[in-house]
Amino acid sequence: MVAHQFILNGQSVTVETPADLPLLWVLRDVLGVTGPKYGCGVGVCGACTSHLDGEAFRPCIHPVGSTAGREVMTIEGLGAQGLHPVQQAWVTEDVAQCGFCQPGQIMAAVALLRKNSHPSDADIDAAMSENVCRCGTYVRIRAAIKRAAL
Ligand code: FES
Repeated sequence: MVAHQFILNGQSVTVETPADLPLLWVLRDVLGVTGPKYGCGVGVCGACTSHLDGEAFRPCIHPVGSTAGREVMTIEGLGAQGLHPVQQAWVTEDVAQCGFCQPGQIMAAVALLRKNSHPSDADIDAAMSENVCRCGTYVRIRAAIKRAAL
């Protein structure tokens, strides 16, 4: 066990875990931060998508040791001061069906809009293509991203 310090949703946290434990397990099982979902555990579904130093990343494939001193933001941090405009757009467009993948979808969308404030349909499809939704809410996801970009 080694102590690992990082910034989580604006607060410094220190955990004692093996350095190779994936951050997703630390978030969910050690810190009780369950917004990032466990879908595949191997970086291909996007359910756990969060931000590392402002960029979208997948904590299921990042060992906690790789985040030392860095800033991690989950959906909990995004909405800590009230609904983020992208979350509001999700509500307005009634995007969620079962909802499981939606925290990851929203975090991916926020990262997209930071880089490209007015994405085309093709830009959205390219950026979001690796965030899987088994309910098939892709049309509403696209509409919500366009609404948030207004
Ligand atoms: Fe992390 Fe699927 S659980 S990408």
